[in-house]
Amino acid sequence: MYYKILGLLFIVVTLEYPFIVCAKQCYQCSNRLNGANFQDCPKDGSVNPDKVYKADCKGHCFTRTNSTDPEVIYRGCVDEQYGLPDPMPKDGCYEHKNSTWCICNDDLCNAVPLGNWTGIDIFAHLNGPKECYTCGQTVDGEYYSYCPSNTTVNETAAGKQSCDGYCLTRTESSQPDMVYRGCLDSIKGLPYPLPPTGCYPYRNETWCICNGNLCNENALGKPNDVTLDDHVKGIQQCHVCRNYAEGQYYPHCPLNSKVIPESTWKENCTGACFTRTDDIDERLVYRGCIDSQYGLPKPLPPDGCYTYYLEVWCICHGNLCNGDGIGIPTVEFDSHIKNGTGTIHFMHLIYSLSRFCLFYFIKKIF
Ligand SMILES: *[C@@H]1O[C@H](CO)[C@@H](O)[C@H](O)[C@H]1NC(C)=O
Ligand SMILES: *[C@@H]1O[C@H](CO)[C@@H](O)[C@H](O)[C@H]1NC(C)=O
Ligand SMILES: *[C@@H]1O[C@H](CO)[C@@H](O)[C@H](O)[C@H]1NC(C)=O
Ligand SMILES: *[C@@H]1O[C@H](CO)[C@@H](O)[C@H](O)[C@H]1NC(C)=O
Ligand SMILES: *[C@@H]1O[C@H](CO)[C@@H](O)[C@H](O)[C@H]1NC(C)=O
Ligand SMILES: *[C@@H]1O[C@H](CO)[C@@H](O)[C@H](O)[C@H]1NC(C)=O
Ligand SMILES: *[C@@H]1O[C@H](CO)[C@@H](O)[C@H](O)[C@H]1NC(C)=O
Ligand SMILES: *[C@@H]1O[C@H](CO)[C@@H](O)[C@H](O)[C@H]1NC(C)=O
Repeated sequence: MYYKILGLLFIVVTLEYPFIVCAKQCYQCSNRLNGANFQDCPKDGSVNPDKVYKADCKGHCFTRTNSTDPEVIYRGCVDEQYGLPDPMPKDGCYEHKNSTWCICNDDLCNAVPLGNWTGIDIFAHLNGPKECYTCGQTVDGEYYSYCPSNTTVNETAAGKQSCDGYCLTRTESSQPDMVYRGCLDSIKGLPYPLPPTGCYPYRNETWCICNGNLCNENALGKPNDVTLDDHVKGIQQCHVCRNYAEGQYYPHCPLNSKVIPESTWKENCTGACFTRTDDIDERLVYRGCIDSQYGLPKPLPPDGCYTYYLEVWCICHGNLCNGDGIGIPTVEFDSHIKNGTGTIHFMHLIYSLSRFCLFYFIKKIF
């Protein structure tokens, strides 16, 4: 009899146990409580876990802004919200009806600060995969009338490309009355976050960015007064992260694709930001601020990707510009200083070789 009860208890416990570990909770709070600021639930900081109510949640956790006052935020569980898409898009920040919504799907994951404007509507993924027109009015001296600057593209003749971010129509600085159309995803070193959709002066060109399937069909618009990067001017930070540390993989800092900005550490930086590989292990990537590195060429070459001994180094200037995947190197990092072969910086060579030897030394011992 006792054994039977014990057995039954065992079954109940093992059946219940997965529910206990899988039950998810979300923080539920607002930074305004009865008209006063509630500092344990801040917009730009993390919640105080001891002071904030937690509730069970089947769906996603969220942090969102009030639609009329973007300084007011709420944290909670989507179960009690209505008018949201089903299924929800992947974790991240979205816009909807004048609010920013950041959603995530782990236990108590909405502890973090509210993410930034993305311009992507929370329903966008339900409209199927998104494409952008990809064409140039002139390519290699050839003129393509189906990709005009002053009217709509010819939708049967113009190329299309799938795209996760904004579509783009921009002028060419060398030929200011000609346009190029494409997807912003493939362009490196852009300001982060991007401003709202619209037309902006940028790099002596006009850039019009839009969000929606094939939205870059129209004629080039008139640019705003502010540049594409005005909202991040004066701020200079770099993403600081690595994809492996002590054998653990950190998916927010991938080698070949963009970082997840919400989860990536950021640091002030007075110089360039970098993304680089590792000469010992080709799977590794490091991102950071060049101020923290030594043995590099002085002055640095222009923004771009370079080979440096057995590594690839990409450098860029601009707030959080090092969020992209590693690029394809062109020339040696220091070829602008020394010409021809044998251009590797002596200190860096010693440094690289010593690490390389140590690595094999350790491998031999064990
Ligand atoms: C936004 O805040 C205003 C003023 O505090 C309030 O009246 C309104 O209900 C809030 N909107 C939402 C969607 O919570
Ligand atoms: C949208 O948000 C802005 C502030 O971000 C506010 O000034 C405006 O009134 C809001 N519009 C609506 C329709 O709520
Ligand atoms: C949002 O953007 C600002 C700069 O405009 C940056 O300082 C901040 O870290 C960003 N927040 C997140 C969560 O990425
Ligand atoms: C558009 O530009 C082309 C060539 O620059 C010109 O021939 C044409 O008249 C323009 N169309 C309109 C509607 O302005
Ligand atoms: C658009 O391109 C197609 C295929 O190149 C062509 O047959 C058609 O005449 C073009 N339409 C216009 C309005 O130019
Ligand atoms: C923009 O144009 C100015 C003057 O023509 C030039 O000095 C500057 O280098 C250009 N900037 C870029 C990014 O091409
Ligand atoms: C980073 O720079 C901002 C001003 O741009 C400053 O307020 C902040 O204290 C700096 N942070 C660190 C850790 O130096
Ligand atoms: C490098 O040297 C070659 C010939 O020795 C010369 O043609 C080239 O212009 C030089 N490049 C630089 C960047 O100095």
